[in-house]
Amino acid sequence: MVLNYTNDAPISEKIKRMKQRVCWQNEQILTRNIDQSRLSLDDSGKEDLEFSFLVIGDTGWGPDDGYYPQRHIAKEMLPHLKTSRFLLHTGDVIYNNGSAEYYPQNFIEPYREWLVGGDHPQNIPYDKMTFNFPFLPVLGNHDYYEITPELKSLLQLGKFFIKDSKLPDSVKNVGLEGSNCGEAYAKAFIDCLEDLDPKALATHLDRHYSAVTDTGLCLEYQPGKFSRIPNNYYRFEYGGIDFFALDSSTIAAYKEEEPDWKQLNWLKDQLIHSWYNKNIRGRIIYCHHPAYSTEITKWKQKDTLAMRRYLNLVIQEVVEKIEYLPEDGPLVNLFVTGHAHSLEYLQIQHKGFSNLNCHLNFHWLVCGGSGCSARRQHVGDVDELEIGADGETKLLAQSKLFVGLSGFGKDKKYSYSFARIDIKGNQASPQIFIRPFVSQWYQGKWYDFELETIKIL
Ligand SMILES: [Fe+2]
Repeated sequence: MVLNYTNDAPISEKIKRMKQRVCWQNEQILTRNIDQSRLSLDDSGKEDLEFSFLVIGDTGWGPDDGYYPQRHIAKEMLPHLKTSRFLLHTGDVIYNNGSAEYYPQNFIEPYREWLVGGDHPQNIPYDKMTFNFPFLPVLGNHDYYEITPELKSLLQLGKFFIKDSKLPDSVKNVGLEGSNCGEAYAKAFIDCLEDLDPKALATHLDRHYSAVTDTGLCLEYQPGKFSRIPNNYYRFEYGGIDFFALDSSTIAAYKEEEPDWKQLNWLKDQLIHSWYNKNIRGRIIYCHHPAYSTEITKWKQKDTLAMRRYLNLVIQEVVEKIEYLPEDGPLVNLFVTGHAHSLEYLQIQHKGFSNLNCHLNFHWLVCGGSGCSARRQHVGDVDELEIGADGETKLLAQSKLFVGLSGFGKDKKYSYSFARIDIKGNQASPQIFIRPFVSQWYQGKWYDFELETIKIL
């Protein structure tokens, strides 16, 4: 018998619950002209044209058999904290089903240096985490999963007899409470307003939603103080770069359901708004699900293709709306995702395809190999081709770097990773330097090294 260990709520339910949690466009929010999809980082350096940030993804697995990749990568990042401004997490913060009971072991303990009071991680409640280094996540699919009633019954019985480390991988880290449709993630990271009475809500909004942007007031993220993100998708600006954080679990619709069209329309409108803002020199989109990956379990998977389809729709509409796009112009300078347990850099070439009548080249970074079960690359030709309207076959995507699981038997190498991204350049255009850091577990030892920097100029 195959045991189904997770349930996944419908997209419509995920959207509904997230909106309820943040009191989306409540009257008090509207009258104050608050934009709940904007965030402002309280950082005196945010006007700097040169800055760095870190990226990790797919981390929340905790210790594995005989080694601890998540904690090892966390320690490898420590020397970069002083010279980086913030961290983007591409989702799957907590395996296996985003349950609150796994935050202490699979988040607070491994990232204790990021947290105020991290010397005593056991004393930090998961819904009271204060970051001394800005930690800006998006939801992964596992952050939305639920436990099935059958598995819950089995585990409730089995936990008396079996240690978690002896369970098969499919049922390791399964919390008995489940995510409650993203509730644990929301309590850990999002500014949940639904339990505030009208008076308390007014006080809270006046105190915390005071940062001024060109789309309204917004929530302020203050390192060292109890700070939240405003929503399951949001935008913030740093150093003349607009960052767009998406909830791709409500976009990658591959079953008989619709994606979150409101979020997709928001992305379209915000990209156009950003394009016409003369102070913005670049755009980075980050989310969990990749639209391109050659990792073996994500290569042409239904959710990968769904992401590609819906992001292409948005990009197509943006291109149609803006008056001028330079040849090979970077409408979006970089996409960053996780979900695939690897570090991969791909170049995407839209040359008159997908009904786009212009040339669009994209740089795609998958950074999902920062703690949970490194995976192999798809076997075979990894170049992706597309048939154009003229019937001609052309190159669509090319994998330029892949780091994950390799080798067999005693030569198996489990490569985990994080990326440091250095932004340079001038007011007119940014230069992006992706620095891949790899920690390889081979024959019972760690080998740590930095790969050649990828330059996006
Ligand atoms: Fe995932």
